Amino acid sequence: MKLTTKLMAFSAIVSASSASAVELEVMHWWTSGGEAAAVSKFAEAWDATGNTWVDGAIAGGGDTARPIMVSRIIGGDPPAAFQFNHGRQAEELIEAGLLLDLTDVAEAEGWAEIVNPSNLLDACTVDGRIYCAPVNIHSWQWMWLSNGAYEKAGIPVPQSWTEFAATAGDLEAAGITPLAMGGQSWQQNGAFGVMSVALAGTDAWLAVNRDKDAEVAAGADYARVFEAFGAARELAVGLNVQDWNQATAAVINDTAGAQIMGDWAQGEFAVAGEVAGEDYTCLPGLGEVAVLSTGGDAFYFPVVDDEEITAAQKELAALLLSPPVQVSFNSAKGSLPIRGDVDLTTVNDCTQKGLDLLAAGNLLPDGAAVLSPDTVTQLNDLLTEFWNTPSMTPAEVQSAYADIIADAD
Ligand code: BGC
Repeated sequence: MKLTTKLMAFSAIVSASSASAVELEVMHWWTSGGEAAAVSKFAEAWDATGNTWVDGAIAGGGDTARPIMVSRIIGGDPPAAFQFNHGRQAEELIEAGLLLDLTDVAEAEGWAEIVNPSNLLDACTVDGRIYCAPVNIHSWQWMWLSNGAYEKAGIPVPQSWTEFAATAGDLEAAGITPLAMGGQSWQQNGAFGVMSVALAGTDAWLAVNRDKDAEVAAGADYARVFEAFGAARELAVGLNVQDWNQATAAVINDTAGAQIMGDWAQGEFAVAGEVAGEDYTCLPGLGEVAVLSTGGDAFYFPVVDDEEITAAQKELAALLLSPPVQVSFNSAKGSLPIRGDVDLTTVNDCTQKGLDLLAAGNLLPDGAAVLSPDTVTQLNDLLTEFWNTPSMTPAEVQSAYADIIADAD
């Protein structure tokens, strides 16, 4: 090869690789041990393409992270990508034209054929255009119990909420806090939602949350839930932690009996080396109504005025749904893949229960898909007030709750 030809070939390689080597700042709220392990799978996969993942983790959970992300975006300094729950959280950003339309990526990658259940892609779709890349199915509908705590108390691990509540006194007698609950309001609202499904049933939950039926919210089925939620408040006294993963840690180290929390808790058990079925027990639907809610996470990509970044954003969106990345990320995260055509190879007992519910179609939408962010905030505020105000009665909180539902959109 002549020198000039060699040089031309070399410069073509350099410009090709520099054209594809792009730094993307990705914002998310995955900062617990299990979450950090999971997000590193995305970062590794992106870096392996020759590009660079610039990690923009925000501690403090979604309610802290989302306003920071939004202010970066509307302030004109957007990250290249950010995590939201798939559902209604991004509605206003999409309406304002601030988020990249990913429909061409979705079509090229066949997302309509592979995303399962299909409502996860619907949750990314506005007016027929696709604005997010769903990366997992996370279900809120779980309780996690410490086998060690029950061993210390000398009683069998409960198999339902009813058994848990009936035996909570035995845990207390052994110096164990029955229920671990972190202080942030989303945790009380989330646990209340799970208790509503388990104790009032899926029809009542859908009537209230999807159809905004205030009569059901004020009625007898929900009165039972508020009574039980009031009793749960008593069972959580004594463990003063803020973050959800600190509450999970109390279950892991056997100082608390149980936690109602989404299946991201599995990532914490995994990092601590705990084995499902041996060290901890998981009850979908609190062992009362076995159901999987299909919430989870999706990545959105702000519109930027730089073709190279736009191309890289689309490349990242496709990568996040690719089979190997779906397997490595979801195995660490405790979530289920959003594509039905990948195998999680070896799954633990709890993930298997989730997969069985998915296969059986025992599914519910997540609250974030049916309630506006504004309604979610009002419910967070009300339920945390109840949780932290012993003098507030179940009847009082139920009446205020029904008023919020009556006004919800
Ligand atoms: C997200 C999870 C995350 C959890 C706790 C949820 O909203 O969907 O991915 O692990 O918050 O941070």
